[in-house]
Amino acid sequence: MKEKQLIYNAFEKINENKKNRKEDPYRLKFHLMPPVGLLNDPNGLIQYKGVYHVFYQWNPFETSHGPKFWGHYTSTDMIHWKEEYPALIPSESYEINGCYSGSAVEREGQLILFYTGNVKTENNERKTYQCKAVSNDGVHFEKSGPVLFLPDGYTPHFRDPKVWKRGNTWYMIIGAQTVEEQGAAVLFSSSDLEKWEYKGPIAGSFMNGLGQFGYMWECPDFFELECKDVLLVSPQGLEPEGYKYQNLFQSGYFIGKWREGTTEFPHGEFTELDRGFDFYAPQTFQDERGRRIMIGWMGITDEREAFQPTIEKGWIHALSMPRELVLHGEKLYQKPLLELMKLRNSKDFSQHISLVKEEKSWQEICSDVSELKVEFKKIEAKIFKLSIRNNVEITIHLDEEAVTFKRKSWKDGSVESRSCPLKRCEQLHLFLDTSSVELFLNDGQEVFTARFFSDPHDKEIVFYTDGKIDLLLEKWSLGAYQIDEISMNIS
Ligand code: FRU
Repeated sequence: MKEKQLIYNAFEKINENKKNRKEDPYRLKFHLMPPVGLLNDPNGLIQYKGVYHVFYQWNPFETSHGPKFWGHYTSTDMIHWKEEYPALIPSESYEINGCYSGSAVEREGQLILFYTGNVKTENNERKTYQCKAVSNDGVHFEKSGPVLFLPDGYTPHFRDPKVWKRGNTWYMIIGAQTVEEQGAAVLFSSSDLEKWEYKGPIAGSFMNGLGQFGYMWECPDFFELECKDVLLVSPQGLEPEGYKYQNLFQSGYFIGKWREGTTEFPHGEFTELDRGFDFYAPQTFQDERGRRIMIGWMGITDEREAFQPTIEKGWIHALSMPRELVLHGEKLYQKPLLELMKLRNSKDFSQHISLVKEEKSWQEICSDVSELKVEFKKIEAKIFKLSIRNNVEITIHLDEEAVTFKRKSWKDGSVESRSCPLKRCEQLHLFLDTSSVELFLNDGQEVFTARFFSDPHDKEIVFYTDGKIDLLLEKWSLGAYQIDEISMNIS
């Protein structure tokens, strides 16, 4: 009864907040956002009975972090989305300060969620429980409570279970911090998803010669791709090092070969997934077509968060575009999911162009929701530059073999910059939404993801080179996701 009342109050408040949501030029067109409140990590990504499910960390009441719900969208084509009732609401004692991140699996027709119950005691101590919830239809979930407790050797920063099956065994990997304050990814196994056996860390700050590599690892994900094993993880506490680790927290991956069933996972170096400002806590899933699809949180918790211009409109943050992961050697390439081509309204521009020491702009190129492709045909220049809406600037340093991405800070207007090395830049693929940009270089070899808030009337895109460049330029204006929002009633 108490739980019903709590849920009822939550629904009332969510409905009311939605009603009060204001007109907003920065609301995105082809990204999933919270209807109101704050969104962070993508959770429970799965294709279940043919339907794509995207859950997300959600504080529906405020634009700051608080006790998290699991928000929920479904889709059959990744373009038309339906808002579902929140899948998880932090109503129980073992999750009262948040149903934290986790994952989804299907077993015998049921959709099963694993997530972290987060509890803060009166004296501000943290407690953590890995919990389970079960659904027969993918939209109504029944909680079955904690399935495993904190093993010795770890602090309560122990969360974000990702579950998968290999052979006849279920595995769970959890983001952890050891009592020595080292980040780790910890493995459990189970034959029935009920009883879990602790195996130990399969990777961590203190393993495989990493040395000091973060005080906490969040949101691990572990999967097989083209006969190799990939561990995605979001470590906290890495210091900037040249081009690397420029954001407060990072997300990236290790590639290696797992000795199945054991904690032996010899792996290579950590590679960052994204070179921009706003990409964190990604999760992947394999769909029925066998694609490994990744979605990340297009945001991050840092000192800028509290200044985002959308806060006054009652919401903050979004998920990234879905991207297919493809392994080339030891490198993960990210490809915009093919379905996104269905967003193309019209091809507004397709021309072979020669730029000679000039700055150039075309009316047809300038718009706020679009896809842009540049293919370099011939280069006799040191620099190629794209300025977008008087805010973002992408510079390809053709001589120095590097890329720089700049944007104006929404906090104080100062210019912020991120860079990465890139040997030969052959192609640039850009997805622009009202307040986000996702840049894929060389077919997804490097990716930059960022939010930016320009004057909504400023739509200009300017090309520049200091030498001579022949290129093919294509542009499509893009349509929007169709999102069916619901009004929440308790029956
Ligand atoms: C990552 C994270 C997770 C946690 C969740 C809480 O952004 O800190 O580790 O489960 O967010 O919302």
